[in-house]
Amino acid sequence: MNDILTIADLKARAKRRVPKMFFDYADSGAYTEGTYRANEDDFQKVKLRQRVLVDMTNRSLESEMIGQKVSMPVALAPTGLTGMQHADGEMLAAQAAEEFGVPFTLSTMSICSIEDIASVTTKPFWFQLYVMQDRDFVINLIERAKAAKCSALVLTLDLQILGQRHKDIRNGLSAPPKFTPKHIWQMATRPLWCMQMLGTKRRSFGNIVGHAKSVTDLTSLSVWTSEQFDPQLSWKDVAWIKERWGGKLILKGILDEEDARMAVSTGADAIIVSNHGGRQLDGAPSSISMLPRIVDAVGGNIEVHLDGGIRSGQDVLKALCYGAKGTYIGRPFLYGLGAGGKAGVTRALEIIRKELDITMALCGERDVRNLSRRNLHQ
Ligand SMILES: Cc1cc2nc3c(=O)[nH]c(=O)nc-3n(C[C@H](O)[C@H](O)[C@H](O)COP(=O)(O)O)c2cc1C
Repeated sequence: MNDILTIADLKARAKRRVPKMFFDYADSGAYTEGTYRANEDDFQKVKLRQRVLVDMTNRSLESEMIGQKVSMPVALAPTGLTGMQHADGEMLAAQAAEEFGVPFTLSTMSICSIEDIASVTTKPFWFQLYVMQDRDFVINLIERAKAAKCSALVLTLDLQILGQRHKDIRNGLSAPPKFTPKHIWQMATRPLWCMQMLGTKRRSFGNIVGHAKSVTDLTSLSVWTSEQFDPQLSWKDVAWIKERWGGKLILKGILDEEDARMAVSTGADAIIVSNHGGRQLDGAPSSISMLPRIVDAVGGNIEVHLDGGIRSGQDVLKALCYGAKGTYIGRPFLYGLGAGGKAGVTRALEIIRKELDITMALCGERDVRNLSRRNLHQ
């Protein structure tokens, strides 16, 4: 991994190792992919204030997200089908995050289950919840997350219906994956990936099969998932989930000032400014462009986090300067996973940590918690 210096290097290696349909599943956005591109591009528009002749020794990246200590304010975002980037992907990423001292968030739509992650980690992880129409199943997930001692519930609000990604349709990617001759060819050209997949039993949605009513095999699972996202989800459901869960609650998918103020009134612990990595509303603004407005709108009444487009420590720093208390990476850790399993995820985190540290120093700051808008060139 010594020749890997950037997240882009990890992405290039992942592309060579992961079958096309799964690499494309990660590296795609909805429709024109305009919002997906804007998430990355808009970080380049934010300029940093360079300072000189200030003491740059004894620097610290340690911080807190929702009151929990983190070695740097960068969590792993929940991503579906992560176990298809690399065999046992969620377990490997969770272990890498735990060793690094940052939160790992398990998606409802993961391949490895809540119990799988609990069995290979020693510290609490976070669980992301999609509110399915089958509310008994939602209760089942919440109870399992409690039993696994998850220390936060990340409730995703921006997927009431599914945005369309053309690449997935062209690749014939279905949920769960079905394998046609084209797919078998794609996999045959990635022999290492195939060998690792042969060594695991986890090739379907681990949180769902055997837990949701009537889902016993791949066919019933396919029908169930296509019908289950809830187009009628409302703020009342958020209150119901909050009560049922009873622990730390993070609302994910806020991109509008009015929604941010509504989120404050729910009493949740944090919001994530997010457009689902450009995978839902194509044409929506980038996360980083909305961050300062949302921070101002909530006026310190709720912790604000951000995801979308972070590809470097400089990007993390810019979000922190605008007032985010924490950030998340999705694709950067997926590329790491595809490129080299657990070591690749660790490498992604190391790259971001080093960039964040050096950039903070050159901005004349020694403590990540002191970053603010005065570090931006406005
Ligand atoms: C392949 C992939 C799968 C995702 N699956 C989920 C999911 O299951 N639940 C969820 O809340 N967000 C999901 N997201 C969105 C991420 O949590 C996060 O918002 C996004 O990846 C951040 O953007 P970034 O990839 O540019 O870092 C997914 C994103 C990707 C790339």
